[in-house]
Amino acid sequence: MSAGDTAFPGSAAADAEELVAGLTLEEQVALLAGRDMWNVGGIAEVPRIWVADGPHGLRKQLGDPAEIGLAESVPATCFPPAATLACSWDPALAEEIGRAIGAEAKANGVSVVLGPGLNLKRHPCCGRNFEYFSEDPLLSGKMAAGLVRGLQSAGVGACVKHFAANNQEAARMTVDAIVDARTLRELYLTGFEIAVREGEPWAVMCAYNRVNGVYCSDSGWLLTRVLRDEWGFGGLVMSDWGAVNDRVAGVRAGLDLEMPGPGANAGVVLQAAVSGALDKADVRRAATRVATLAFAGAAEIDPSAPYDAEAHHELARRAAAASTVLLVNNGVLPLRWPSSIAVVGALAERPRYQGAGSSEIAPTRLDTPLDAIRERAETAAVTYAAVYDPVCGAELSGGVADAVAAAATADVALVFVGLPPVYESEGFDRDTMRMPACHDRLVQEVAAVNSRTVVVLMAGSPVEMSWAHKPAAILLPYLGGQAGGSAVADVLFGDAEPGGRLAETWPVELADVPADENFPGAPRQVEYREGLNVGYRYFTTAHVPVRFCFGHGLSYTTFRGGTPVLSAERIAPGQGLSVTVPVTNSGARAGSAVTQVYVRRVEGGVPGPDRVLGGFARFRLEPGETREAVVEIGPRAFQYWDAAGGAWRTPGGVYELRLGGSVDDVRVRATVVVAGDGVDAEAPVHPDRVAGEVAFAAMLGHPIPEAEGPLPYRRNTTIADLAQTWRGRLLRKGIMAMVRKQMAGIAGGDPTRAAMVERVIEDMPLRQLVMASGGRLSYRRLDTILRVLNAGRR
Ligand code: BGC
Repeated sequence: MSAGDTAFPGSAAADAEELVAGLTLEEQVALLAGRDMWNVGGIAEVPRIWVADGPHGLRKQLGDPAEIGLAESVPATCFPPAATLACSWDPALAEEIGRAIGAEAKANGVSVVLGPGLNLKRHPCCGRNFEYFSEDPLLSGKMAAGLVRGLQSAGVGACVKHFAANNQEAARMTVDAIVDARTLRELYLTGFEIAVREGEPWAVMCAYNRVNGVYCSDSGWLLTRVLRDEWGFGGLVMSDWGAVNDRVAGVRAGLDLEMPGPGANAGVVLQAAVSGALDKADVRRAATRVATLAFAGAAEIDPSAPYDAEAHHELARRAAAASTVLLVNNGVLPLRWPSSIAVVGALAERPRYQGAGSSEIAPTRLDTPLDAIRERAETAAVTYAAVYDPVCGAELSGGVADAVAAAATADVALVFVGLPPVYESEGFDRDTMRMPACHDRLVQEVAAVNSRTVVVLMAGSPVEMSWAHKPAAILLPYLGGQAGGSAVADVLFGDAEPGGRLAETWPVELADVPADENFPGAPRQVEYREGLNVGYRYFTTAHVPVRFCFGHGLSYTTFRGGTPVLSAERIAPGQGLSVTVPVTNSGARAGSAVTQVYVRRVEGGVPGPDRVLGGFARFRLEPGETREAVVEIGPRAFQYWDAAGGAWRTPGGVYELRLGGSVDDVRVRATVVVAGDGVDAEAPVHPDRVAGEVAFAAMLGHPIPEAEGPLPYRRNTTIADLAQTWRGRLLRKGIMAMVRKQMAGIAGGDPTRAAMVERVIEDMPLRQLVMASGGRLSYRRLDTILRVLNAGRR
């Protein structure tokens, strides 16, 4: 896609242009915000379309679209969330799932699905990591592009989110991510770039937060220069829900659509356009894009289009197995006709299969591991003990002791542990990487009495596992989606292989993670001082041992790689190459190999990570079968972002290509010589772990900005921040009571949702009250309130 092209099919763009040219300025302005929570368009001949969450299924809210509601939505297939699906390393599978979600969206009258989410996993405790793919931008981007292609092949738009550097939930609506240009480009923007270039999504959603001092919703640099001018994005940019900081600046910057609507900004935008403060051409451009989206969406909707819910469930089951990672196995798996099985842990009966928040799908049905194991175990005696509360994870009376007694006499013990729902959600981050203490104890005590203990770990992101050497096997289904329970049984009994490979590092402990020193940062500013030291890029460079490395995953079969052949042994600047390698299934069962190629600088180059993922290929082999894996390595694997010059540069050098089954498992090597582009840029600063003041300022190219204080109060003051003064506390109490009342229905009695709603309210900037008030509170009144609050602050 080149700059200026449209991402939309058919004549949508031309029709919209013609129509908008005939609209009044008021009508154009009216198009720049949604009609309500979920509807867009519907003004002056422009069709009204419905947009809905995403991303791993359809969440079309039931009830009044003027109100936000998380509790009730149409039944839809809940596929494995991104954290899980990424472990398949299979963009084609993501595409298949995208197509299925698209079909369900279409049948439900939804034109745009708000996903995929592809923010990079900077820190294992980001509350929304379950919605994101990987710590590696290439894997994230490829998986996201697959999902986008799939959705759009069904005639439904994708909306890639949250652009950009939205890597934590704490203070997510206002925090300023201070990131140096090289890190931003090489880590946090690359996944979006791949998804945009290769997937051509209809839409991109801007994030809530600021990046280097500017709200994403106001950033012309991000939304136009990088996204459109550099990457050739031809779709529409919409705001995250309530992310608009300054609507006029946003229209100018390239933020086409404000969501949700109708919002309070139409007047401000109109006034600015009439007074000349805002160019009318900017309004028209944004209105044309909204109309284009509406035309494209409306053309495809077909509520009578049937979809096969049963087939989608089976796809979800296959995807869950293909993404399940076998971390440890001393040979106990697959299970071979056990005489008795002790199943312990409530997650077997009440599995965690997705995360909480805006992505929570109402599944069409739900398979539980316990039912599936009972069914598959046939004549084997199966006992079950819940041990802990499935929601909060606390031990029940008799809990671990009863489980140990049952496990001691069983042939096999299946121990279900993980992160209970209240531990992981949109809206807040985890503050430790630990599971509830009784889960750790359960594993240790059961493994001590039964040498055939298999741990099944359900979580959306890594946990500490000091006991990892004790059980005979550890299976990691992450969050398996609605068919995950069956997929667990499929893998345990060997009806399916554990097809997954880790898409993120599992560190030994949180203290090993460099970003932890600046996470979640000050309430208003988070400094990415670790730079490129994220995930395996850090662990391999600093030689820090990990619990399970990036790319790791055992199989029920074995693979043997042959000698790689390179398409070129010397390449020019800006060129990539392909690596072809024969891979043989040397075991007795069919299985999927994931050939991973890491690029490691041997001579030349610039300071940076020891190795980066250059490319990968996944394919299935029958026993004894050999296939040629062809892995494309793009030019970026040999480049770095030159912050001073504002461009990608190729430093000449000798690079080793390491082929293997994980970042640490090198099977074969090859060498390529890369010619440099002859530009002598100053070598960038790369900290060993975390940059100190001076080094971070050097990385930024300017002094570290001073973090904003909480006072004086301003439009972006959060409700939590009001606690600074007694007048603020008084107002805060009033607002909390009012908003809580308004939002009471949202949680629908669910404790995880209730915790999320509470945190979301606390993190809300005051300006969002204007939007949420439905016209009762204006910006002018808010400014008056702020003046009163700030006068004689106490
Ligand atoms: C989330 C988005 C979501 C939107 C609509 C926001 O709070 O950050 O991911 O699409 O709500 O539910």
